[in-house]
Amino acid sequence: MSEQTQPRLAVRNLTTVFHTRAGRFVAVDDISFDVYPGECLGIVGESGSGKSVAALSIMGLVDYPGQIEAGRIEYAGTDLRTLSENQLRRVRGEEIGIIFQDPQTSLNPLFTVGTQLVDVVRAHRKISKSEAAALAIEKMKLVGISAPESRMKSYPWELSGGQRQRIAIAMALLLGPKLIIADEPTTALDVSIQAQIVDLLISLKNELDFSLIFVSHDLGVIQNVANRVMVMYAGRMMETGEVGSLFRDPYHPYTAALLASAPTLRTNRSEPLQAIDGRLPSPGKLPPGCVFAPRCQYVQEDCRVRQPLLESIGDAGRRVACIHPLIALPDEVHV
Ligand SMILES: Nc1ncnc2c1ncn2[C@@H]1O[C@H](COP(=O)(O)OP(=O)(O)OP(=O)(O)O)[C@@H](O)[C@H]1O
Ligand SMILES: [Mg+2]
Repeated sequence: MSEQTQPRLAVRNLTTVFHTRAGRFVAVDDISFDVYPGECLGIVGESGSGKSVAALSIMGLVDYPGQIEAGRIEYAGTDLRTLSENQLRRVRGEEIGIIFQDPQTSLNPLFTVGTQLVDVVRAHRKISKSEAAALAIEKMKLVGISAPESRMKSYPWELSGGQRQRIAIAMALLLGPKLIIADEPTTALDVSIQAQIVDLLISLKNELDFSLIFVSHDLGVIQNVANRVMVMYAGRMMETGEVGSLFRDPYHPYTAALLASAPTLRTNRSEPLQAIDGRLPSPGKLPPGCVFAPRCQYVQEDCRVRQPLLESIGDAGRRVACIHPLIALPDEVHV
């Protein structure tokens, strides 16, 4: 990535909270990241770490009692937080498309696939129904739906899970967005279909040149699809960097623990798979200092009092929020 390239999306100090009866929960805590043209940023972390709330915040889709409390979400130089709901609606679809874990979220069971795709196009473009249908059919072909003309007449429940997710991807691509946010787009599918959908997204990204934010708890998928990765824990960014180097040499003990718990990604395959002991802290009861300290096998006393800042460390682009990062000494470097 050239130093001069401007990011397509620049998120700065994003903080999203939920006000509930039990108190104020910080679901996303002061995160900042960039997404460059044509790249895929992977977001990983255990369940409840704030991945979906971060993705929804970008799109302005966090519902009550959630609220973006601070930060800027700059898309092509405009802070999306300053836009009206109408302006945001234009950005959604035309500039940024979203694909959810469950295609049912984007597809209504009561209407045919064709009706829904045509309606989305016509909500944004002043064109005839037949022109909108032609565009829908073109996108259905693009995502590998066979006989798209007759599929237009199908209801979502008449399709397989994989086909439904392909239609949801076609819907996200309808208006040619430059950024796609995919939140666990394969998690609800059969394992055999998951790889097909991942491959489809990779080839579409290369062909259409959109940027992709790919949220997943599956590090194997992230390794295949992402250029850079951001590791989240309890709403915070723990580590970010280029995917190959970060997976090879995690500097944050949390990243290392996640990798050690991933069946396909252990750095040392002779060691048994390790679950991470303990649980994510409740968002209302975060420990002082480093949020991972209570579960960290390398914890030291200062970790429990001082909250680490995300700092540049090691190779280009790597940033880590850890007071005692796992940097190998020269004689420990493995080849
Ligand atoms: N509507 C809500 N009200 C209160 N808290 C919420 C709400 N939605 C999310 N949260 C809280 O925000 C935090 C982050 O949730 P989020 O859904 O972003 O996690 P995630 O990383 O996407 O997890 P998963 O891998 O399970 O999808 C969690 O602690 C969750 O309990
Ligand atoms: Mg989620």
